Amino acid sequence: MSRSAVVLGATGLVGGALIARLAQTGQWDTVRLLGRRHPPLPDARFSAVDADLGALAEQASAFAVDDVFCCLGTTLKKAGSRDAFRRVDYDFCVAAARCAAEAGARRFIIVSAVNADTGSLSFYARVKGEMEDTVAATDIPLVAFMQPSLLRGARDETRIAEQAGEKVLSLVTPLVGWTKAAWLPIAAETVADAMVALALHGPETGRLRLRYKDMHAYARRLGEDE
Ligand SMILES: NC(=O)c1ccc[n+]([C@@H]2O[C@H](COP(=O)([O-])OP(=O)(O)OC[C@H]3O[C@@H](n4cnc5c(N)ncnc54)[C@H](OP(=O)(O)O)[C@@H]3O)[C@@H](O)[C@H]2O)c1
Repeated sequence: MSRSAVVLGATGLVGGALIARLAQTGQWDTVRLLGRRHPPLPDARFSAVDADLGALAEQASAFAVDDVFCCLGTTLKKAGSRDAFRRVDYDFCVAAARCAAEAGARRFIIVSAVNADTGSLSFYARVKGEMEDTVAATDIPLVAFMQPSLLRGARDETRIAEQAGEKVLSLVTPLVGWTKAAWLPIAAETVADAMVALALHGPETGRLRLRYKDMHAYARRLGEDE
């Protein structure tokens, strides 16, 4: 089977885990990484395309693939301002979805956040919610939003707020009922595995939001394939 993908955000925590998994499954014979920087390419099926994410429409033809995986994102601290944060987490993500729609991609699978909500008091959550609404309104057959709480994984940089959040969550985790599992920290690899499994085993059409339990369930499907 010939299958192709575009990945945005491949240098990130989830993006890195995603390309490792795409390489390992052997199901994709063309994987194009779009970005301003690139990680080492796992093998010859992968290529790196320098892209100005602020002018993605000029490279829309690069999105003529089966699956688009979007792992883009920043933090308010890293971005330096609300506008700069929104540019990455809304503008770039929406531009990628519009390119995917125009080029005829079949699936758009993107990392959002558990608290995505246009009505939230949190600016971060509102931007994620607005991104979801706009992306969901494109005519891509399948759009899926991964909605993790805190991501677990090894980073080069220090993120004090996330580390503090993880400490608090690890203390309360034994007390949290399974019904509240959506708020539990999740390994970046599990999110990445769920994205890959969804592309391989998910529905052909629809608008999906996957939280902690859903992502674990999809990620397990990959293990069953091996
Ligand atoms: N961290 C958490 O606990 C958490 C929790 C819930 C949801 N999320 C969401 O999960 C997603 C993935 O998170 P992550 O921690 O894997 O991300 P990450 O490690 O920070 O990686 C972000 C990716 O986005 C790219 N990017 C950021 N700003 C860019 C810019 N101005 N121009 C071009 N590329 C840019 C980075 O590329 P460069 O290498 O070129 O910078 C990198 O590939 C994000 O949307 C995040 O909001 C995270």
